[in-house]
Amino acid sequence: MTSSLRVIEGGRTGELTPGFLVVGASEVVTLEGGVRRGPEQSQVGRLLADDPAGPEAPSVAGWEGRVVAVGPRAAVEAALEAEGLPLGRFARIDAAGGAVTPGLIDPHTHLLFAGSREDELVLRQGGASYLDILAAGGGILSTVAATRAASEGELLAHGRRWLDEMLGHGVTTIEAKSGYGLDLETELRLVDIAHRLGREGPVDVVPTWLGAHAVPPEFRTRPDGTEAYVRSLIDEQLPGIAAHGRARFADVFCETGVFTPDQSRRVLEAARGFGLEPRLHADELAPSGGAELAAELNAASADHLATPSKAGIRAMAEAAEAGNPVVATLLPITTWFLMKDHHAPARSFVDAGVPVAIGTDFNPGTSPAPNLALAISFACVNLGLSPDEALAAVTINAARALSLEDEIGSLEPGKVADLVIWRVPTTAQIPYFPGADLVRTVIKRGRVVLDRP
Ligand code: NIG
Ligand code: FE
Repeated sequence: MTSSLRVIEGGRTGELTPGFLVVGASEVVTLEGGVRRGPEQSQVGRLLADDPAGPEAPSVAGWEGRVVAVGPRAAVEAALEAEGLPLGRFARIDAAGGAVTPGLIDPHTHLLFAGSREDELVLRQGGASYLDILAAGGGILSTVAATRAASEGELLAHGRRWLDEMLGHGVTTIEAKSGYGLDLETELRLVDIAHRLGREGPVDVVPTWLGAHAVPPEFRTRPDGTEAYVRSLIDEQLPGIAAHGRARFADVFCETGVFTPDQSRRVLEAARGFGLEPRLHADELAPSGGAELAAELNAASADHLATPSKAGIRAMAEAAEAGNPVVATLLPITTWFLMKDHHAPARSFVDAGVPVAIGTDFNPGTSPAPNLALAISFACVNLGLSPDEALAAVTINAARALSLEDEIGSLEPGKVADLVIWRVPTTAQIPYFPGADLVRTVIKRGRVVLDRP
């Protein structure tokens, strides 16, 4: 399936010119300078224009897929010429007075699944809890049944459809978890499809193995079901996933009633032994020791954290202070969709010096929402982040949550040329128009891949 929004064939700047120059921006927000934590979370590096058409207005130049210069247009043009890069080889892209940011990065999605679970919204309205529905064989398990039965073609089409939506909201890189197979064959298929979708582009996809998402039905009938499944994760699924060589991370749903911190530790340590970096679903529904474990393992990221313990926040603060920050990846759409009145303590994490990222958690149960720009609104309204803090959370800090901060997440020379031109003059308006289509142009690896003139 291909939508009208998908890649503009070859890209407008593709074969014709190896370079592009974005001009006419009201502001360029660079996020230059690495991961943000504490008071730096709000320092985004904003270059402003008095006159977007004037020579001092901020511009961004890219060459062969990388950013080569950011700064006042006249100075950038002079620098390019001086480096032997003639301006005639740069396609001019007019931002028409819009704001320019790095491409957004969604560091937590469950992109690939079959079926849908709108019935659970009604069950929750009637008072059922998320874990009650799972214990009764619904929830994740109903998606597992549908996903096991789905063909590769169906999963590919589904992935393309939702990647298109994400791109339409300015997203140029996502993480995509498996976790709806829960057996080696289906988990491998999900990781493999995630990888192939990224190769196909334009959105980059970072695959994560989430075999420890739930205990599958064939183990649930056994008295030692959870333990037996943990052993099979370590002895069978993990070696198969590692041999396939495409998953970069391993994730565990560490939560009371799902996997304990001890079981999570065993899976993640074994995964690290195979070269898969740990990340966790931590303290989503109740304080379950997830934040503490993430700090202990020096995970790339601890995600959800809607209900961390004080000790868990302290452990993550100490890890950050010691120079080994675990990113707190907060998922405010999920809390809202689960109808919770208690939100992740984002301010406590920022105050404690823990870098904060934001993701959609796109999945069929708790967050069927592919719009990362909307998650920025939720981060401001429900988590109390400022618009600038939230912008850092979906760019450089999200890159760090995927261990990609040296490649993406900011506009500075040498980085991959992924950027968004917005139809609003300031990024402060991104959270201000929740759910609106605010993207004018997306450039991925130096090519225009979406354009809404
Ligand atoms: O991040 N909590 C675990 N996993 C997902 C939900 C998955 C599902 O319900 O299908 C989450 O909320
Ligand atoms: Fe999740």
